[in-house]
Amino acid sequence: MGLVCWSYLVILSCAALTRSVQIPIQVPPTLHNFKSTMPEIWDFNATPSLNSTSHLIFDTVGSLAQHWTNTRYRNGHTVVPGTVPIGTLLYHGTDQSEVPTEPDWIATDPDHSYVFCRTSSASGNSGCWHLTLVVTRPLRVLYFDGSSAAKMQGGTMDSQDITVWGQVKPEWTWNERKRINDLCEWGQKFGLDGFMRLVAFFFEIMLCDFANGVEIVSHLNLDPGKDAHPAGPEQELPSSLSPSATYVLQYRSIEAGGWHNTYPGETRVKLDLNHLISFYDTNLFPSLVFARFGQERWKHRLQGLNAVDLKTFQARLGEVLKQNDHAGSGVDWSTLIHVVVDRYAERLEILHYLLNTTTTAEHVKRVQGHLRSMLVQHILYTSMPNSGSTNYSWAVPVYEHCATTHTRYTSSTPSLSARMTKSESLILHSIQEVSKEICRVVVGMWAGGVELGFDTIPTSPSSSSAKLDPETATTIRQWKERTEGLMAWLDWSVWVRCRPECGYEEICYLPTWPFLDGPDWLPWPHVDEAMQLSGEGGEERFSVRPTPKCIRRVEPFRV
Ligand SMILES: *[C@@H]1O[C@H](CO)[C@@H](O)[C@H](O)[C@H]1NC(C)=O
Ligand SMILES: *[C@@H]1O[C@H](CO)[C@@H](O)[C@H](O)[C@H]1NC(C)=O
Ligand SMILES: *[C@@H]1O[C@H](CO)[C@@H](O)[C@H](O)[C@H]1NC(C)=O
Repeated sequence: MGLVCWSYLVILSCAALTRSVQIPIQVPPTLHNFKSTMPEIWDFNATPSLNSTSHLIFDTVGSLAQHWTNTRYRNGHTVVPGTVPIGTLLYHGTDQSEVPTEPDWIATDPDHSYVFCRTSSASGNSGCWHLTLVVTRPLRVLYFDGSSAAKMQGGTMDSQDITVWGQVKPEWTWNERKRINDLCEWGQKFGLDGFMRLVAFFFEIMLCDFANGVEIVSHLNLDPGKDAHPAGPEQELPSSLSPSATYVLQYRSIEAGGWHNTYPGETRVKLDLNHLISFYDTNLFPSLVFARFGQERWKHRLQGLNAVDLKTFQARLGEVLKQNDHAGSGVDWSTLIHVVVDRYAERLEILHYLLNTTTTAEHVKRVQGHLRSMLVQHILYTSMPNSGSTNYSWAVPVYEHCATTHTRYTSSTPSLSARMTKSESLILHSIQEVSKEICRVVVGMWAGGVELGFDTIPTSPSSSSAKLDPETATTIRQWKERTEGLMAWLDWSVWVRCRPECGYEEICYLPTWPFLDGPDWLPWPHVDEAMQLSGEGGEERFSVRPTPKCIRRVEPFRV
């Protein structure tokens, strides 16, 4: 590929530059005129299988350690090993003046641990204790995605339960002491130092040994504030958020959580995507295909894992934790996923907006222009229909090039494939399938528009206001549905926002356990059986689908 000398002013220097540095590269003739390798799989009518989970793997892997998606979809499906690097600070708040001698919980932001900095009569009501630790050797942790520390029934703890107890244990939802002890004991044989989970708005680490791999930076006796809540049961959040002095601190905690809302999320734990296990892997866990069938994504759970698949999970987990697998190919998967998301998220949203507001021929031309602009890097000089063509076969190379552009090299280079771990192959496949579906829909609409002459609609002041003919109106309606269908299938959380946008004194908040209400915080009843969050039906405030809303970020919090 040559340098593009894009302006007269730079032509001279550009010419000089190309002469001196450009080395002729032999481009194989096939790469000039992209030829389809397997025309039969590039069928514009072939929709993804109903049981396909590629979009779910793509979205969950792309959302690891990020709040927004994992608050929206509370039931985790991914288990990933990770490390906390040397020098990372970790925080622990308590009413005890001693450093914990058994497994305990720590936060990555002090705003969160301070919530647990409480005073108690046992400590003579003389302030609270806040411990800062520093990591002195890479800590090995296992991360459970989803809202994995939300003490709700309905699936948030499924993946932990299965990891530590081999089955879902709703009766131990609140038994956090047993959970942490059992997890730490189980993890010993793999040299795990802890477990990372998402609770409310922050990431916590269940640290197994406060004397191993961490050192004390400070252990301060702090002022818990005049509204300080008394020390409650272990690892339980304060029972209410009242619009008082504590509220501002609670708000600070929500705010700190918001720093990790979107990609790249919480980066203080380095996740090893090459060794992740996804319960959406239909080859490893076919029993879950059946369990999920007909269920909306909100309700996907792991209860349906059968004995054979449980054995598979345990074996695979042992494999990844003992790192018997290869190191991996070196491909940066999360970046690659976000390259695809960045490329299409906003453009699809605008496409939908344009289709939703198309009433004139001029608007149709605008839609066609937008579609074309999304695809120009794939539209070959020869991509043109014969007159009267209606089967889009001329557009197949555009579809295939669009769909394979990000993965073609990785998937077709044997030396790379040989180094890829099973987890990487799963991620690669999900990127391939997601790219394929986006391109099937976008190229399909664009090619349809070309055949219908949308590129060349003559526009004049009179036609710009004229109503659409019924056929065109039908096509536009169908395109709108196709775009909606694609966006619903992809289900990217970047599209979930507060509408209308929040004011400057507000933030967009996705209600989450245990503060599901935002500013009108209701008292949190103490571990009332009925409140054990069935996750569906019943309590309106624990509805399965969290909907974002604006809450105030400066006083007065309640208006
Ligand atoms: C999807 O899974 C269900 C449940 O296992 C099965 O009955 C159905 O045949 C599958 N459909 C396809 C298209 O594979
Ligand atoms: C589509 O248009 C309708 C009617 O103008 C409007 O109410 C709706 O909010 C629009 N939808 C989107 C997603 O823009
Ligand atoms: C598509 O139409 C062209 C003519 O326009 C024809 O040559 C070709 O065979 C058709 N392809 C299929 C798959 O029907």
